[in-house]
Amino acid sequence: MVTIKSQQEIELLREGGKLLASVLEQVAQKVTAGTHIKDLDHLAEQLIRESGGEPAFLGYRGDRRTPPYPATLCVSINDEVVHGVGTRENILADGDIVGLDIGMRYPEKNGFFTDMAVTVPVGRVSPTAIRLMKVTRDALNAAIALVRPGAKTIDLSKIIQGTVERAGFSPVRSLTGHGVGYKLHEDPPIFCYYQRGMPETTLQEGMVIAIEPMVCQGSWEVTVDPDHWTIRTADEKLSAHFEHTIAVTKDGHEVLTRI
Ligand code: MF3
Ligand code: CO
Repeated sequence: MVTIKSQQEIELLREGGKLLASVLEQVAQKVTAGTHIKDLDHLAEQLIRESGGEPAFLGYRGDRRTPPYPATLCVSINDEVVHGVGTRENILADGDIVGLDIGMRYPEKNGFFTDMAVTVPVGRVSPTAIRLMKVTRDALNAAIALVRPGAKTIDLSKIIQGTVERAGFSPVRSLTGHGVGYKLHEDPPIFCYYQRGMPETTLQEGMVIAIEPMVCQGSWEVTVDPDHWTIRTADEKLSAHFEHTIAVTKDGHEVLTRI
């Protein structure tokens, strides 16, 4: 079910979104060769709690058969697409690219959810890695630019796919963006590619959505690690991910997860 948020609720989402963006910026600044990713996860949790929020991913249950997500942050390195578990023992190295994905419920009690992600380089990275990150960010921005009442979710999917494929990369098929706010994941799904017969939702004022292109250098096929969470490319090539939480406003949109 697609939900419509009130002006008051959007005000709280805006406050939470700005705080979350500031948390992620501070975490991203700590990314350097030699960083233990679990230190990033710790910092993220501490900053979220200091902001008066609660980590949205920690303890999240995808389905009943898999263990709850054990971290605050998703840290997805190189061929890891998304949901790289932030509390693993990995240490970042020069030349890596690292996706940092974070969600917060704000305020902590009966609050509202915002969700965002960036991919950042560690030291000097390859020209392909730089282009992959740029194209993924461009795809997100192109989709955001279309958000307004009357636009359709499949228009967002098509522009993401077009931006990505024109650059010779592949959008992930088995994961999507989503409505967000009352829960971390709400309807509608926002696919990163288009296929005939796909569900389509017409955007309306008061909807809040998380758009999140996940882009592979090679094939879009992915696998899940034995930890049940970390998703990586089947061909072990690079992947990048950017995400924002966006409100549909009367005459367009507002990116909520910006400082
Ligand atoms: N931004 C991701 C998503 O919307 C992060 C979810 S991590 C999880 O799926 F643990 F909460 F699943
Ligand atoms: Co999301």
